[in-house]
Amino acid sequence: MRYFIGNWKMFGVPKSINIVKKINSFYSKDKNRKKYRVIITPPFTLIETFSKYFKNKSVCIGSQNCYQKEQFSSNTAAISPYMIRSVGAKYTLVGHSDNRSEGDTNEMLKNKVQFALKNNLKVVFCIGENKTEKNNKKTFSVLKNQIKVLERKFNKNNIIVAYEPIWSIGTGKIPSKNELLKITIFIKKVLKSIFNKKSPAVLYGGSVDGNNVKMFKDIREIDGFLIGGASKSSKKFIDIIKNYYR
Ligand code: PGA
Repeated sequence: MRYFIGNWKMFGVPKSINIVKKINSFYSKDKNRKKYRVIITPPFTLIETFSKYFKNKSVCIGSQNCYQKEQFSSNTAAISPYMIRSVGAKYTLVGHSDNRSEGDTNEMLKNKVQFALKNNLKVVFCIGENKTEKNNKKTFSVLKNQIKVLERKFNKNNIIVAYEPIWSIGTGKIPSKNELLKITIFIKKVLKSIFNKKSPAVLYGGSVDGNNVKMFKDIREIDGFLIGGASKSSKKFIDIIKNYYR
């Protein structure tokens, strides 16, 4: 199974549902539709209406983050996995670099993953090194430390890992094919050592578009993509899927 996940970040108002409707109508008729899943993560404000609308349709809805407590608490503006699930989301991103840079620690992320899974949300766990770490050849040790959050007791079937090098997010810069192949294999090796020889799906994210996806598709170890900028346009998002299967 491949995954195409659209991360809208701080984008979207109620009428933006039209973008997802177009994506859904392509997806539900695509001859390759059984080979992949499409998930859109709009901001919290749109999760309920989008989830209701797409409930019996092909596209799935997720959230971009969740708070590290399970149900209700006195943390102002916090939104728990229980609350997200209650409005129909099926997935949540956890550990996006935007949130790590705002203070998410491994300990907080462990709670997020645990409570999300407990509330029947599938977790898309984001990892990735920054430019300095890459230049200092620290990529592998950084990734290994980030992956430590995942534990054997978690159900690997409900976890997807997204490798997103921070220097690539929104910059148009992407890793070389060889580099990405090595890193993906490394990530899967670490995951296999946690999850009894079986790795969860591993996605790539960072400046994915309809052109460069042709290069990524040669790397069979990559199970799909986390797409930011290009997911805000139905055409750009659909082009990625079309070119992947061309
Ligand atoms: P991008 O974002 O595709 O705009 O680089 C990816 C992400 O941050 O998930």
